[in-house]
Amino acid sequence: TEIQTILEDFKPRVGQELTVMGWVRAFRSNRFIALNDGTSMGTLQVVVDFEQIPEDVLKQISFHACIKATGKLVESQGAGQDVELLADTVEILGAANPEEYPMQPKVQSLEFLREKAHFRMRTNTFSAVFRIRHGIAYAVHKYYNDNGYFYMHTPIITGSDAEGAGEMFRVTNLDISNPPRTEEGEVDFKEDFFEKPTNLTVSGQLQAEIGALALGKVYTFGPTFRAENSNTSRHLAEFWMIEPEVAFYDIFDNMDLAEDFCKYLINHILENYSAELEFLDQRIQNLEKNMPKNERRAMGLIETLRFVVDNDFERITYTDAVNILRNSKPYKKGKFEYDVEWGKDLQAEHERYLVEKKFQKPVIVRDYPASIKAFYMRMNDEQEGVPGKTVAAMDVLFPGIGEVIGGSQREERLDVLKTRMADMNVHEEELWWYLELRKFGGAPHAGFGLGFERMVQFITGMGNIRDVIAFPRTPGNAEF
Ligand code: 4AD
Ligand code: MG
Repeated sequence: TEIQTILEDFKPRVGQELTVMGWVRAFRSNRFIALNDGTSMGTLQVVVDFEQIPEDVLKQISFHACIKATGKLVESQGAGQDVELLADTVEILGAANPEEYPMQPKVQSLEFLREKAHFRMRTNTFSAVFRIRHGIAYAVHKYYNDNGYFYMHTPIITGSDAEGAGEMFRVTNLDISNPPRTEEGEVDFKEDFFEKPTNLTVSGQLQAEIGALALGKVYTFGPTFRAENSNTSRHLAEFWMIEPEVAFYDIFDNMDLAEDFCKYLINHILENYSAELEFLDQRIQNLEKNMPKNERRAMGLIETLRFVVDNDFERITYTDAVNILRNSKPYKKGKFEYDVEWGKDLQAEHERYLVEKKFQKPVIVRDYPASIKAFYMRMNDEQEGVPGKTVAAMDVLFPGIGEVIGGSQREERLDVLKTRMADMNVHEEELWWYLELRKFGGAPHAGFGLGFERMVQFITGMGNIRDVIAFPRTPGNAEF
């Protein structure tokens, strides 16, 4: 029987003979075992009967050893648990010799655990994170399904650079140490599997647009890849992205969707994973005990999540953001590392100021300068008080994380798009089909991408993105 099932509804099972299997989380006096099987935060107390369990089995009961125990479920006399299993047989399914096993029954650093990706999911912290990660993924599909969207599988290998940022991993079957060459000495992609240069996708957006202009409302949810060499706590080379794309939506519909979607995901976890959230909340409080007050979170984890779902996101334009930042204390005191100037991208420190100091809630920034955004974003009309050209782009910024969503209304006007692509050096030949989508039966449409791991980080309160994906791909890290 699964341990979660027993703990959730123990009354009818008291007196029954049950078999449980799981990993030893803790044991006392070789008699009391706290057993966890991954189904929940809970452990079942297994009480070993010395007279019945052979010595050699008892000796192998150690931290994270895997055991199978059978016995009667009884109400527990001890404090801390409702029931316990009086085991009359214990079988060692997998011993874990404590002399050699690298994990120890104490709080170990996240850095250390990252090197032990094959064992870290057995810890309380990581099992909580990965159950929640699952819960968020499930809620993504539920949200879109319930709202009439179709899940679309966009390709992983593609010939186009959706962001035009050149941060792609090449995919080729050519022998890179000795590739075939043309007479001019260039690599001859005719001999490549795809007969052209291809890469791992940076975003499924362009193909999702094809879907939206046929099915109306679609979304993708898949792995995306970026060869950006940023060693930060928010960047992965392989991350999962959710990208809804909707025909007939403008930037304001897009913002409404983004806000509603984020709140739905958070609510789903608040409603279904309270034990995990309480554990993670407590974990953060323990970590922060010895920190100076200004480094601690303003609110607890669960309190933060509730606050976000209960309040409207702030909505401002990029131009507002620049004005706010230039009038801010840190700007005037020269505390920002990067300058704030209309036309320059907002840096993480600026985003954090807006979200954590100025508004203290999620903020949606829209209408960014055209020059710093991707070619597909829709050009805005000139606006008063705005010094340059802007596009209908939006970023959703979250406390403690920064950008969780980037999106836009798409340029549906063929002539405007062509001019923009030429300006940004995006070749028409490579995106001929994207242009034809505008030429034949085009429509206004909009969409965005939510960085899945960043949302998992926000909901679990984990400080480093490497700790919310089982096998993080970062520079120099592809062991597992
Ligand atoms: O802002 P980005 O680059 O937008 C796009 O890719 C659009 N094509 C999406 C769309 O409109 N359909 O990425 C979207 C989100 C970011 O806001 C961020 O949350 C996440 O993806 N992201 C990353 N997450 C982890 N590691 C990285 N290296 C990331 N790069 C972007
Ligand atoms: Mg972005």
